[in-house]
Amino acid sequence: MDKKTIIITGGAGFIGSHVVREFVKNYPEYLIINLDSLTYAGNLENLTDIENSPNYRFIKADITDEKRIDEIFETHRPDGVIHLAAESHVDRSISSPLEFVKTNVLGTVNLLNSARKIWGNNFEGKRFHHVSTDEVYGALGETGIFTEETSYDPHSPYSASKASSDHFVRAYGDTYGLPYVITNCSNNYGPNHFPEKLIPLCINNIIHKRPLPVYGEGLNTRDWLYVIDHAKAIDLVFHKGKNAENYNVGGFNEWKNIDLVRELCRQMDQKLGRQKGESEELITFVKDRPGHDLRYAIDATKINSELGWKPSVTFEEGLSKTIDWYLENQDWLEKVTSGDYMNYYRKHYSI
Ligand code: NAD
Ligand code: DAU
Repeated sequence: MDKKTIIITGGAGFIGSHVVREFVKNYPEYLIINLDSLTYAGNLENLTDIENSPNYRFIKADITDEKRIDEIFETHRPDGVIHLAAESHVDRSISSPLEFVKTNVLGTVNLLNSARKIWGNNFEGKRFHHVSTDEVYGALGETGIFTEETSYDPHSPYSASKASSDHFVRAYGDTYGLPYVITNCSNNYGPNHFPEKLIPLCINNIIHKRPLPVYGEGLNTRDWLYVIDHAKAIDLVFHKGKNAENYNVGGFNEWKNIDLVRELCRQMDQKLGRQKGESEELITFVKDRPGHDLRYAIDATKINSELGWKPSVTFEEGLSKTIDWYLENQDWLEKVTSGDYMNYYRKHYSI
């Protein structure tokens, strides 16, 4: 068994916490270091089940702090970096773009520099895995699909910052020979998803019988993937993906927003013993997101044919499990929606 030290950035966030758990459980011989600054989106309670594992360690640090990141890399000398730390919410990027440039671009370049410094020119057994998004490809019309060859065409400050970070990772590969892989994934859903994003926001609002804000006419389409399937894809690509390549990851599961919100209402009415159609009455069409991408759809053929990955959870099953998790973890929801969340919510939605 290979002993490795792996730094996972953003491991206290939604996807990061599932990736940390996957690695801590699957690789007892590795040391998994979760490096996270614990922003509003980071929550160590996401990891209470594995926090005492002997192969797990948490370090609170900000990836924009060059000196501190250098020190951490110098001390722990990681063999691998799996980089998820980011500002991740498109709406917040529209009101505070600079935060996104700082964390997503500058933070990524700091990590690349620190990795280069400790790896020197000896890249044997080393890898920088950059976790990116399908939003870098821009927006599709009614037809078409994003492949790994689709040109980058980001539209929001969030996707522009992620596209920029992808370019820096490739540039470090081309210029310095730094070994890397990139994954570009579609919309994730599942437990521990912060309730500023569509699915957990609607679940939370349905529980509390609050309006369900649907942007525009609700015709925008997203391709949804259960978060644990994304974590499994990251595990596969990190270990078996080809150097200097990117892999698209997606659910082959497109939903128009309005249909998805109606489906959530249907399932939750059933689970909460409410009358059929009761929650749908909460649907409220609100002002559209500026520059709102119409449709995303991922062609995940490459990761399937080269690495054998495919989603293991059907959407029906995943959505049902997700709703059950939120219903059983309402204390988690209460905690993360207190304080600053309500300020954000009131400022963003005037409903
Ligand atoms: P999230 O917002 O839930 O979590 C982000 C984590 O990063 C938090 O724990 C936060 O504390 C940490 N973080 C933020 N700024 C930091 C900083 N400066 N230093 C250290 N830690 C910092 O995000 P998520 O939805 O889990 O997304 C994780 C990654 O996956 C992001 O890079 C995102 O772009 C990418 N991604 C997300 C999705 C999705 O549907 N959520 C899809 C594809 C790709
Ligand atoms: O595609 C991958 C991306 O998916 C990730 O890179 C991002 O980090 C992640 O946040 C997500 O971005 P989206 O903008 O697609 O997710 P969000 O949940 O914010 O919105 C999903 C769709 O729902 C989108 O079309 C906007 C719409 N929406 C969203 C919110 C929050 C609404 O109609 N109402 C809302 O209140």
